[in-house]
Amino acid sequence: MARRKLIYEGKAKILYEGPEPGTLVQYFKDDATAFNAEKKAVIEGKGVLNNRLSEFFMTGLMQIGVPTHFIKRLNMREQLIRQVEIIPLEVIVRNFAAGTIAKRLGLEEGTPLPRPIIEFCYKDDALGDPLVSEEHIAAFGWASQQDLDDMVSMALRVNDFMSGLMLAVGIRLVDFKIEIGRAWDNDFMRLILADEISPDSCRLWDIETGQKLDKDVFRRDLGDLADAYTEVARRLGVLPTNAPAPSKPTLIN
Ligand SMILES: Nc1ncnc2c1ncn2[C@@H]1O[C@H](COP(=O)(O)OP(=O)(O)OP(=O)(O)O)[C@@H](O)[C@H]1O
Ligand SMILES: [Mg+2]
Repeated sequence: MARRKLIYEGKAKILYEGPEPGTLVQYFKDDATAFNAEKKAVIEGKGVLNNRLSEFFMTGLMQIGVPTHFIKRLNMREQLIRQVEIIPLEVIVRNFAAGTIAKRLGLEEGTPLPRPIIEFCYKDDALGDPLVSEEHIAAFGWASQQDLDDMVSMALRVNDFMSGLMLAVGIRLVDFKIEIGRAWDNDFMRLILADEISPDSCRLWDIETGQKLDKDVFRRDLGDLADAYTEVARRLGVLPTNAPAPSKPTLIN
């Protein structure tokens, strides 16, 4: 088989050239990193889980009208996506205080926030993805005011959708991060949801026990990360784990 052209290798994923112009193949690795890659490990099975979960969330989002880069899943670790020009911002939505906002503002983790708070971080590993304001974004031209308005409304839609989905399976969506990109249809530009939505990019707590089911398990050495992600997938019915044996042979790819 001809080798595919590598476009980009990141910490958690690899992008290859796709079969058609304007498409990419996104490969989910088992690598886990935290604290700007100071802490690293290989968590067997993480890539498979994130590929399935990101597919599940993006498919649902498309069904409610949020445009995403997801085209189709190709196999256990790869999905076909639409290539976009990533806006160099991480868009964070917070419903409860945790992580850096808790530290920065002296809030106890788990404190409900008065309303969803959106933060932007400038995507630059060398700088540690610093928090930036809309003022910085406008001044440096990373996004226009119109883009910013659209990004905020998209982020809030993702928040409502994901919060409801998680609540239904007894999980609190504490916060999450998304990336958004520009796609062109002829001369018409629109913003679409890109990258991934997975327990790598969300904080997910069991509603009853507060047990963490996201990457904090790895960041804070709280147990087995793959077990936590498997639990999220199982509750959402995304993996056939513990499901009764299918009556006819199922194609597993
Ligand atoms: N649809 C897309 N089109 C183009 N680039 C994308 C798309 N979706 C995600 N990306 C980019 O692909 C890369 C995915 O790799 P990964 O998440 O492993 O990167 P990373 O190590 O987190 O680094 P980065 O700081 O670049 O995000 C990211 O740079 C992300 O911005
Ligand atoms: Mg990334």
